[in-house]
Amino acid sequence: MNPTYTVAILGCGNRGAETYGTLFTQQAERFRITALCDTSPYRLEVYGRRFGVSETFTDEARFFEKKRADLLVIATMDRDHVRQCVRAFRLGYDVLLEKPVSADREELEELLRVQRETGRKALVCHVLRYAPAYLTIGQYLKRGAIGRLVAIQTIEQVAYWHQAHSFVRGNWHSSEETAPMILAKCCHDLDLLQYFAGARCESVSSVGDLAYFKAECAPEAAQKRCVVCPLVETCAYSAKRIYVDGWKAAGRPASDWPYVQLTSRYPITEEALEQAIETGEYGRCVYFCDNDVVDHQIADFTFENGVKASLTMTAFTADCGRVMRLFGTLGEIVLDEPRGEIVLKPFGGAAETVRIASLENTDKGHGGGEYGLLDTLYGMLCGETEQVTSLENSVESHLMAICAEESRRRNGARIAIHAKTER
Ligand SMILES: NC(=O)c1ccc[n+]([C@@H]2O[C@H](COP(=O)([O-])OP(=O)(O)OC[C@H]3O[C@@H](n4cnc5c(N)ncnc54)[C@H](O)[C@@H]3O)[C@@H](O)[C@H]2O)c1
Repeated sequence: MNPTYTVAILGCGNRGAETYGTLFTQQAERFRITALCDTSPYRLEVYGRRFGVSETFTDEARFFEKKRADLLVIATMDRDHVRQCVRAFRLGYDVLLEKPVSADREELEELLRVQRETGRKALVCHVLRYAPAYLTIGQYLKRGAIGRLVAIQTIEQVAYWHQAHSFVRGNWHSSEETAPMILAKCCHDLDLLQYFAGARCESVSSVGDLAYFKAECAPEAAQKRCVVCPLVETCAYSAKRIYVDGWKAAGRPASDWPYVQLTSRYPITEEALEQAIETGEYGRCVYFCDNDVVDHQIADFTFENGVKASLTMTAFTADCGRVMRLFGTLGEIVLDEPRGEIVLKPFGGAAETVRIASLENTDKGHGGGEYGLLDTLYGMLCGETEQVTSLENSVESHLMAICAEESRRRNGARIAIHAKTER
């Protein structure tokens, strides 16, 4: 009989509880949640009740007094991940670790060292590796459908409202407090680039800055809070339009992201959202926040096998989603997430279009990636499946981001990923 693994969740927010917690409860024959830890008593009460878990902790130190399950999900904020994962490895947990792991090279090395010492298993939530659309591209490359891969171009369309939500008003607005945006937002893209390139990255050059979300760009009539602003019904970044009108247009979901980050009320109500934008951080004017992270950045990478890649991360798009083109000696692949398709274009042959929605499980989170991730996680715990991404492999894509950020801060200087010397 297949074993059932017990699970503790540290950080019961959107990812830890809402996403993975919910998926675990849907796979009750494989996973059973037994303990929750979050600094918010309210979240513990809500998710404790929803998951039927009574062992809850508001204090990380008490939670870590002993091992409380087979697996620990770490879904706290970015800068806590390594410290908590090191403690978890030492207590004997296997870990599902949210990305980004860390923006600090030394911390990443320390984590790898402790993993080697303790022999624990860890899977980083690079969910797109497990998404059917990206698995399909991997298969095309493997069977030589476009000959030899020469270059990749990818655009991470952050979308104007998502930039405002996460990188201006929300959790990732401050470079002091969180990982650089290219790591926080493009960790998946970088992981995919190295996976498709099929080699370690050799060097990177990058430029970017904060072009728009600052006081000098504010319209004359703009007020510090949207609810009292004369532009509340017309401004593209109006909190009322994004959260209250957006939630209604989305069919008034009971607990969907991003609305779930404004209120812990379950189910979400219009009043709860209105109250949140009246007084909370998500109701602030985007031109008058304490944000300093970039709103656009461009990076180019060279891999050890000669493959080149360029990445554009930009807030200034109408839609979210990636647009990726892979250029080979005998053909081209175009992936367009907003259009929902992958087109394979062999030179001199007929193009083949695959609708992403027609691939299995793509209706589930991150294009089916979260579903695939949990399958791989279960296989990893059982010792049956080979991990698609090892911790070492995940660290590689983090180094690409860390060096891109270093390059950006040094006006685009070319940085070698491994030797750490400027070219
Ligand atoms: N894999 C992905 O695609 C993906 C997508 C979004 C976010 N993330 C990552 O997931 C992580 C969590 O993001 P989120 O969107 O769920 O944020 P969130 O704010 O919804 O959740 C974080 C939770 O951690 C809790 N917390 C913070 N410090 C704590 C501590 N010391 N002890 C216990 N609880 C603590 C907070 O109270 C909160 O409930 C971040 O690192 C983020 O970068 C990954």
